[in-house]
Amino acid sequence: MRFIWLFLPILLFSEVKEMESFITEYEYGEMLYNNPRGISCAQCHGPFGEGKKIVHYKENGETLTIMGADIRNKSLNEMLKSIGIYHEVMPRYYLTDDEVKSIYEFLKEKNKK
Ligand code: HEC
Repeated sequence: MRFIWLFLPILLFSEVKEMESFITEYEYGEMLYNNPRGISCAQCHGPFGEGKKIVHYKENGETLTIMGADIRNKSLNEMLKSIGIYHEVMPRYYLTDDEVKSIYEFLKEKNKK
C-alpha cells in the first residue's frame, strides 16, 4: 500500500498531460484571441472580429470615434503583417506566426458557426 505514494505523482502527471491534449485548435485560438499577452483583441475587434467602437471623444466640439477594424475577412498574410507592426491605437503584440495563425483559424471557424 505504501508504494502508491511512489506512483501518485506519475498518475497525476499523466492526467494533466491528457487534459492538455483536450484543448482543441479552436479553443487554443480562442484563448489567444481573448487573452493574448495582456490586452484582448476582442476588446477592440469584438467577439467575432467584426470591429467595435473603442472610444468616443470630443475635439473642437466634434465627437470623434475610434473603431477597431473589422478583421473577419483578413487573409492570414494580412494578419501576420498587421500584428507585427506598430499602430496608432492597437498595441504591438509579440505573437509567433503560429499564434497568429491560430487566432486567424479561430476567427474563421467562429464566423462559420
Ligand atoms: C486597443 C484596441 C485594439 C486591440 C487590443 C487590438 N486591436 Fe487590432 N486594430 C485596432 C485598430 C484601431 C485598428 C485599425 C487602425 C490601426 O490602429 O492601425 C486595428 C487593426 C487591426 C488589423 C488590421 C486591419 C486592417 O484593416 O488592415 C488586424 C489584422 C488586427 N487589428 C488584429 C488584431 C488582433 C489579432 C488583436 C489581438 C492580438 C488585436 N488586433 C488587438 C485596435 C486594436
